[in-house]
Amino acid sequence: MIDLKDKVAVITGAGAGIGGGIAKAYAAVKAQVVVLDVDQDRVAKTCKEIADGGGAAFGAVTDVTHDQRLGETFEVIERQFGQVDILVNNVGGELGGRKPFSQTDARLWDDLYQFNLKQVFSVTRCSLPLMAKSRKSGNIINISTIEAFRAIPNSAVYSAFKGALTSFTRSLALELASDGIRVNAIAPETTESASVVTETRIVPEHRDNIANWIPLGRFGVPEDIAGCALFLASDLSSWVTGTTIHVDGGALAAAGWVRMSDGRWTHRPLITGSGYQHH
Ligand SMILES: NC(=O)c1ccc[n+]([C@@H]2O[C@H](COP(=O)([O-])OP(=O)(O)OC[C@H]3O[C@@H](n4cnc5c(N)ncnc54)[C@H](O)[C@@H]3O)[C@@H](O)[C@H]2O)c1
Repeated sequence: MIDLKDKVAVITGAGAGIGGGIAKAYAAVKAQVVVLDVDQDRVAKTCKEIADGGGAAFGAVTDVTHDQRLGETFEVIERQFGQVDILVNNVGGELGGRKPFSQTDARLWDDLYQFNLKQVFSVTRCSLPLMAKSRKSGNIINISTIEAFRAIPNSAVYSAFKGALTSFTRSLALELASDGIRVNAIAPETTESASVVTETRIVPEHRDNIANWIPLGRFGVPEDIAGCALFLASDLSSWVTGTTIHVDGGALAAAGWVRMSDGRWTHRPLITGSGYQHH
């Protein structure tokens, strides 16, 4: 039912993880995918995987936080394709781990702002003139986090900028609706990626608990997020804009509830220690 033939999709951070999963999913339904990533080897790897699967990929090695290079990259994209139909703002992250807010400084706040929000503004603004050329249709998908909707201790600034992405998504959706451009976001729970290796995050003696901690019984994989990104990029969601979809195995709905090993539910702590490695 989903066919992105003749659509040009730009995906930031598409060299690995969630972005890579989305790039491959779009290519599988015939989109022409621009694999944009700062890491040359990763760009080459994703492009090869797409080509091996019979899809069309165009590599763009760029740092999204560098405005001049970003502008040059979009000039190349314009020369190559003439238009952009789908933009996935996927780059983001906690930048090297968590620490109590009292131990953070203005430099880290600036870096987190650049990485999680400002570059999203820059990439989006670069894309809009190319979306205008796309026969009055367009799709912007911002990758947020479930932590924009649920607290995360020791990562307050990251969650604040991801929270801001929710508001940006909503307001931009209204501004662009009459141009035929839809703007939505996806909020994932912990998902296997280059920077998040889910199993090694949990101490070995608690790994059996993963099935009980997440209502749907496991952490996410990039294909879970890609499935939602496919829906949002396709006409199946043609009346959906300004919203964020939680792709989280039911974690937000569960809040503090977990299953015990006998299958019963509790919201009382079951284990000693945090369960996380290095925390
Ligand atoms: N993985 C998770 O558990 C998880 C959970 C919630 C939200 N998210 C969000 O999903 C998005 C992707 O996360 P991931 O875990 O797949 O990341 P990842 O680290 O696995 O991959 C990110 C990709 O972005 C590229 N990249 C980094 N900086 C860049 C820059 N300045 N310019 C261009 N490319 C750059 C990297 O080279 C890498 O290929 C992020 O916005 C993150 O906040 C991830």
